[in-house]
Amino acid sequence: MKRVDDFRLKFGNKEFVPIMIGGMGVDISTAELALEAARLGGVGHISDAMVTDVSDRRFDTKFVKNKLKLYKHNIHNSDKSIIKFDLGALAEATRRHVESTMQSKKGEGLIFVNCMEKLTMNAPRETLQVRMASALDAGIDGITLSAGLHLGSFGLLAEHPRFRDAKLGIIVSSVRALQLFLRKNARLNRLPDYVVVEGPLAGGHLGFGADWAQYDLATIVAEVVQYLRTEQLAIPVIAAGGIFTGSDAVSFLETGSAAVQVATRFTVADECGLPKKVKQEYFKASEEDIIVNTVSPTGYPMRMLRSTPAIGAGIRPNCEAYGYLLDGNGSCAYINAYNREVALHPDAKTLSVMDKTCLCTHMRNFNCWTCGQTTYRLKDTTRRLEDGSYQVLSAEHIFKDYQFSIDQKVALPEISQ
Ligand SMILES: Cc1cc2nc3c(=O)[nH]c(=O)nc-3n(C[C@H](O)[C@H](O)[C@H](O)COP(=O)(O)O)c2cc1C
Repeated sequence: MKRVDDFRLKFGNKEFVPIMIGGMGVDISTAELALEAARLGGVGHISDAMVTDVSDRRFDTKFVKNKLKLYKHNIHNSDKSIIKFDLGALAEATRRHVESTMQSKKGEGLIFVNCMEKLTMNAPRETLQVRMASALDAGIDGITLSAGLHLGSFGLLAEHPRFRDAKLGIIVSSVRALQLFLRKNARLNRLPDYVVVEGPLAGGHLGFGADWAQYDLATIVAEVVQYLRTEQLAIPVIAAGGIFTGSDAVSFLETGSAAVQVATRFTVADECGLPKKVKQEYFKASEEDIIVNTVSPTGYPMRMLRSTPAIGAGIRPNCEAYGYLLDGNGSCAYINAYNREVALHPDAKTLSVMDKTCLCTHMRNFNCWTCGQTTYRLKDTTRRLEDGSYQVLSAEHIFKDYQFSIDQKVALPEISQ
C-alpha cells in the first residue's frame, strides 16, 4: 500500500514532499506555518492579503493608521473612489512580510505567496504588479495566483528579472479556465510551473457558482491531466479541496497529480493564525454547521461556519483604513448593501446587513470563519482534553500524518501535558 512519501513533486531537478499547504488569507496561513512545511520538505504558503495590516501587526509599522489618517475625512461619504493605496507602502509591507519569512527558512522545501487577484484595491493592475514584483524582490520562492485569476497577470511580471526563475502557479477550478489562461499567455513563452486544481470542497472562495455541489475534484483533475497530456505540456497538477487523509492524497498522486494542496487540517495547528477560541469552533463544527453563501462582496461563493460573526454584522465600511476589495471604480458590494440598510433604517443604532459582509474588517479580525467542507472531521484528528476542549496539533504532526499514514487512518497526537 502506497503512502504520500512514496511520491515526489518535481520542479526541474529538485524534488519535494508532494504536500503543499494552501494560502489562507489574512495571516491564517502564517509565516510560522509555511516555514514548517518548508522545513519538512514540502511547500508552504504565506498570503499577501491585507499585507499592510499584517506588517503593522508583525513589525509595528503604521501603514493602516497612515492610510486612515489620509482618508479620514471620507468616512461618511459613500463614494470611496478617492481611496488609493500608496504603492510604495504596499511594496514596503510586502517586502517586510516576505523577507522576514524567507530569512527564517530552514530545510529543503519552498515558500510561496498566495496572491488573490480579487483584492482589486481600487487599482487592480497597479497594485497586483507591485504585490507580485515586491514579493519576488524580497526573495519569495514562488507566487500562486488565485481567486479572480486574471488572464494578463503573468504579463505584468514579464520584465521582472526573476520572471523565469521564480515558480509561478495558478489556481483553476476547470479545464476551461486553464485553457484560456494558457492561450492568453502563449506569447510570453512562459508556462505556469504548476497548476493547482481546486475543487468544490475547499475553504475560502470557491471557483464555482451556486451549482458548486454538482462538481467533483477527481473529475476536474482527470480532465486537466488529460488535457495537459494531449497538449504535451509537462506542468505539474496539484489537487486541492477536501483531501483529508494521506490515503485521499495517494489516490490523487496515483492518478496523475504531482502533489496535493491542503489547508483545512492545518487550521487547527498551533502555527495557524486563527485565535485559540476560533480553532475550538472549527473543532466543534458538525456537518450542518458548514455552509456556502454569497456574503463575500467578491461575487464568489464562500464556505464558512454558520455561526461566524461576519454574517449579519452591519458595521460601517472600513475602506478608509483597508479598502482591499474596492474595484477599480471605488465600489464594493458591501458598501451598497450597507447604504441600503442605512436608508431603510435611518434611526437605527445598530444595523444588520444579511446579504453581504465587510470582508476586509471581518477577515482582519478573524471574524469570518471560512473553512473547508471537511472541517466537521477535525475533531476526529485530535484528543479531547479534561476541560472539554480539543487539543491543538502541531503543523509537523499534521504534515507527517499526511506524509506517512495509510489505510484512511489519521494519527492522533501524543497526549499533551
Ligand atoms: C481558512 C481558509 C482560508 C483560505 N483562504 C484562502 C485564500 O486566502 N486564498 C486562496 O487562494 N485560497 C484560500 N483557501 C483555500 C486553500 O488554500 C486550499 O486550496 C483549500 O482549502 C484546500 O482544501 P482543504 O481545505 O479541503 O484541504 C483557504 C482555505 C481555508 C480553509
